[in-house]
Amino acid sequence: MDHHRVRVAAVAVVLAVWLQLPAASRGQLQVGFYNTSCPNAETLVRQAVTNAFNNDSGVAAGLIRLHFHDCFVRGCDASVLLTSANGTAERDAAPNNPSLRGFQVIDAAKAAVEQSCPRTVSCADIVAFAARDSINLTGSVSYQVPSGRRDGNTSINQDALNNLPQPTFTAAQLVASFANKSLTAEEMVILSGAHTVGRSFCSSFLTRIWNNTTPIVRTPATTSPLTISRRLTLSLTGISTEY
Ligand code: HEM
Repeated sequence: MDHHRVRVAAVAVVLAVWLQLPAASRGQLQVGFYNTSCPNAETLVRQAVTNAFNNDSGVAAGLIRLHFHDCFVRGCDASVLLTSANGTAERDAAPNNPSLRGFQVIDAAKAAVEQSCPRTVSCADIVAFAARDSINLTGSVSYQVPSGRRDGNTSINQDALNNLPQPTFTAAQLVASFANKSLTAEEMVILSGAHTVGRSFCSSFLTRIWNNTTPIVRTPATTSPLTISRRLTLSLTGISTEY
C-alpha cells in the first residue's frame, strides 16, 4: 500500500468511527439499516457518485468535505444541504460558499433513491454513503457506514461560522475545535489527511507561506511566489506531488 492509500485508509477509519454522529444519538445507527426498507439504497448512491466522479473526479473531494461540514454543524443531519430564501443557511456561510461542492450529486442520489423507495432514506445517510464512496473511488479503501440518521430542519449560517475550523486557526485553536466534537488531536491530524485530495483557494494558505513578499517557509531564493503557488495548487489537486 503506498503512502496515499495509507493516508486515505486512515481517514476512512476515523470517518467511519467519528463522523457518523447523528443529530440525536450515535447508538441508534446500524450497518444495513435500509436492508429491508430500501435494499438498493447504498447501490443507488454509489451509482450517482460514480457517474459524477467519471465526469469530474474532483467531486469526490467535494463530497468528503461535504460530510465533514455537515457533521461538524448540528451533527450529521444534512443541515448543510438546506437552502434559505435570504442567504442565512449553513451553505451560505463563508466556509461553505462558494467552495463547498457536490450538492448536485447528493440531489441526483436522493432523486434515484426516492424513485425506488419514497420517503425512506435520509439525506444525512446519503451524504455519509457518498463520502464513503468517494473515499473508495479515490483511495480504493472501503468501510461500512452505520445508517439511520434523521434529517434536521434547521440550518443557520452563524452555526457554520461558529463550528467549522478556519484556515487561519493556530494549532491550539484547531485542537480545541476538534476537542469540542470529542475528537483528539491525533484524530484531527488523521482526518486532515483528507486534504490528500481536493483543491483550495490560494487565499486559504498563501499567508502561511508568504508574509507580503517575505517567504515564511524556506525555499530556493530564486523561486517566485507564483511558481510556489502553482506547484502547491498542483500538489493540492493531486496532479503533481512536486515541491
Ligand atoms: C483541521 C481543520 C480543517 C481546516 C482548517 C480545513 C480547511 C479547508 C480549506 C480552507 C479548504 C479549501 C477550501 C477552498 O478554498 O475551496 C479545505 C478543503 C478540503 N477539506 Fe478541509 N479543513 C479541515 C479539516 C478537514 C477534514 C476533517 C476533512 C475531512 C475529513 C476535510 C476535507 C477537505 C477536503 C476533501 C477538501 C477539498 C475540497 C474540494 O476539493 O472541493 N477538511 N479544507
